[in-house]
Amino acid sequence: MICLGIEGTAHTIGVGIVDQDCEVLANVSKMIDGSKGGIHPREAANHHAENILPLTQQALGKAGVSYRDIDLVAFSQGPGLGPCLRTAATAARALSLSLGVDLVGVNHCVAHLEIGRKVTGCRDPTLLYASGGNTQVIAYSGGRYRVFGETLDVGIGNMIDKFGRASGLPFPAGPHIERIARGGSTLVELPYSVKGMDVAFSGILTAALQLRRNGIPLEDVCYSIQEYCFAMLVEVTERAMAHVEKEEVLLGGGVVQNKRLQEMVGTMARERGAEMFVPPGPLCVDNGAMIAWTGILMHGAGIRTPIEDSVVVQRFRTDEVDIPWMRSSPA
Ligand code: ATP
Ligand code: FE2
Repeated sequence: MICLGIEGTAHTIGVGIVDQDCEVLANVSKMIDGSKGGIHPREAANHHAENILPLTQQALGKAGVSYRDIDLVAFSQGPGLGPCLRTAATAARALSLSLGVDLVGVNHCVAHLEIGRKVTGCRDPTLLYASGGNTQVIAYSGGRYRVFGETLDVGIGNMIDKFGRASGLPFPAGPHIERIARGGSTLVELPYSVKGMDVAFSGILTAALQLRRNGIPLEDVCYSIQEYCFAMLVEVTERAMAHVEKEEVLLGGGVVQNKRLQEMVGTMARERGAEMFVPPGPLCVDNGAMIAWTGILMHGAGIRTPIEDSVVVQRFRTDEVDIPWMRSSPA
């Protein structure tokens, strides 16, 4: 079984080719330039439309397979930006129809979790998913992946990128902020906002920009942003782990490539006698391989997405997806 997966929820268009053992045969992608401000959904969709065919051909070449070898087509059905989702879905429908193979629509957040679970070998983790547009703590409970906590405003990566843009840093700003933060040493106060199991970041952005205007060095502001935001994430992740009594924490999303975040989550896990799992970077960010792998899991559980049901779902909730393959797998 070889599945071609198409990811296109936001600024990245990706094509991955994966087999039934989760061997990643190819995983290629292109991201629109987000340095000029937030992403414009129509412009991003045009970018995806221009790149989907070259990326598909590049992926087939890298995998050393031809169109005839593809047994299944999977695509990111949501959540995400409407025009971007529709572009990826249109390509997936066309490919599935022309090849005469099944189509499976995949929830993007579930895909982050499934690829991480497979490549790191953890079984039943609590996922901390921290990316540009999303920040959620997810765990399996009662047949579904449930969202135990999430951001009440923007994703943590969006906040970091906005701060970076205002500070003249290249896009995406995450890796630059991480590097600059290493030079900081003074923790300056920012609004620590955890509300129940949820977090909020826009107050931190406003306060951090004000600190810069007050002349606080960039190093110290970057350092403080990381310390505050990551402590908030660790707090809600730990509370979710305690609640569902799980001993594995899995990281997913572009922001978890941050070594300071990994260190803080790792310390929390160790202190609870739990274990942290971090997938390789290219499988943490938005990518086609995670969509392809989740497509294989869904297909194996008998799930198909007929064309008439393949309409995209911009607000596709993680807990709307039935997860039959987990019933037999975790303890
Ligand atoms: P979504 O998954 O919600 O659709 P996305 O496509 O923006 O959002 P990813 O591709 O998973 O998300 O991640 C991109 C984000 O990760 C950017 O906001 C970027 O700044 C952030 N990021 C990347 N590396 C780091 C790092 N080392 N430290 C902090 N943030 C980082
Ligand atoms: Fe993502």
